[in-house]
Amino acid sequence: MSKQTYFLSTPIYYVNGSPHLGHAYTSTAADVLARWQRLRGLDVFFLTGTDEHGQKVEAAAKQAGIAPLEFANRVSDDFRDMAKQMNISNDDFIRTTEARHKASCQEIWRRIQANGFIELGAYEGYYAVRDEAYYDESETILKPDGTRVAASSGAPVEWVVEPSYFFKLSTFQDRLLAYYEQNPGFIAPTAKRNEIVSFVKSGLRDLSISRTKFSWGIPVPGDEAHVMYVWLDALVNYITACGFPDLEGPRGKFWPADLHLVGKEIIRFHAVYWPAFLMAANLPLPRRVFSHGWWTVEGEKMSKSLGNFIDVRPLTEEFGLDQVRYFLLREVPFGNDGDFSRKALVGRINADLANGLGNLAQRTLSFIAKNAEGVLPARGEMHEADHALLELAQNLPSRVAEAMDKLAFHEALDEVWRVIRAADTYIDSQAPWALRKTDAARMKAVLRMICEVLRVIGVVLQPFMPETMARLLEYLGIAPEARDLAGLDTPMVDLTPLPAPQGLFPRVTEAA
Ligand code: MSP
Repeated sequence: MSKQTYFLSTPIYYVNGSPHLGHAYTSTAADVLARWQRLRGLDVFFLTGTDEHGQKVEAAAKQAGIAPLEFANRVSDDFRDMAKQMNISNDDFIRTTEARHKASCQEIWRRIQANGFIELGAYEGYYAVRDEAYYDESETILKPDGTRVAASSGAPVEWVVEPSYFFKLSTFQDRLLAYYEQNPGFIAPTAKRNEIVSFVKSGLRDLSISRTKFSWGIPVPGDEAHVMYVWLDALVNYITACGFPDLEGPRGKFWPADLHLVGKEIIRFHAVYWPAFLMAANLPLPRRVFSHGWWTVEGEKMSKSLGNFIDVRPLTEEFGLDQVRYFLLREVPFGNDGDFSRKALVGRINADLANGLGNLAQRTLSFIAKNAEGVLPARGEMHEADHALLELAQNLPSRVAEAMDKLAFHEALDEVWRVIRAADTYIDSQAPWALRKTDAARMKAVLRMICEVLRVIGVVLQPFMPETMARLLEYLGIAPEARDLAGLDTPMVDLTPLPAPQGLFPRVTEAA
């Protein structure tokens, strides 16, 4: 039987500026999920990439004094580098300037047009280049200085009058509402779902899907004076990567997507426009769109004017990659907004990682190296406390799975730390250091229990902290091919020689 497939994506990132904390966050969350699904044995396709067309990128290139493609090449490489440095396990990296994507977009356009959902007209209204979005006057505010901005994002808007092709979005209102109703999990979290449902209920206007004022985009088939609206171009990336128009090819099995992970400001594009485009082209719709919150930095919004964009790469060098990945997913309930501060990062590293998991592993493994011949002790007679601890650990994967299904990464981690605390309490009450003199057999049995618990913890934490957990599992003598969830069903092998353990998470001493 062929394996169940799972296709998930990050948004494709605009190449007008360098990668920062916000991008690293979306990518890391998606990566944790991709690794989790692989751990479950699914056939995963994990996609990320860059969004390279449109007025915003064209303007940034102009400012840099180079051609748009050269500019896009440079910044796209930087995003690729970020993915590499964050240990993002994407299976493909799509760029909207690639030939495969141009072909795919033009084919989608032709299908939507053939089905009668595109018509030529003229756009007259507001446009915000920073958001690459059209706004109704009621969605803008006039500031005291006379400039007009989008109310939701604060991006300046300009008045645009130009010939444009329109997508008949208004005809999809009922079908979209029916889809949301029949697929209650399509938009998450629930608050976002409600927001989108009431937006669609309030009435949809036809959408301008081509521009004529500039040329940095994919030409409209049959009318080269127009380039496609960058959001139509961008959204199509997800199906391009599955091989569209050839969905019979090797990647075709991954469409429709299981999950589009997006930031909250772009949910409307993914939960309204994208399904409508697909309906218009008679293509299957994605199963889920999940929107996460935004980070502020030391209490401030990241912005050009404050110059406080954080690049996480130097932080990973300073504090450790897995430490930063852990922090991003533990600090804020996924879906909520959060604040990034060095103090909070250092606090989490020391409390949860160095003193929590790191200490549990180190004191157990170094004790075995010194007092139990450096091999995995055999199980002894099971005491009540052993059963209780083991049961807690054995139930951990299913509790983590429940949280991961809801993308509640913080809850998944909470479950793991509950087990870590229980293991700490167990060691303190069993006191193997005292047993060393009085009952060496029981001492070994106790150490074996902790190793079993550490194995489960190491396995389920791999998606969050892949490198460090690979080390932990190696110290426990678990072969690389036995590190997935199914591997947990195989008993650990008595007396396996264990390599000398090294500390997993150094304490950070910086004055917080
Ligand atoms: N190009 C579009 C997406 C097209 S997808 C078909 C785009 N790109 S982006 O580069 O502006 O942002 C992409 C992602 O970064 C979004 O998910 C967004 O939420 C995330 N973040 C940008 N700043 C952020 C924070 N300050 N905090 C958390 N994530 C934020 O939008």
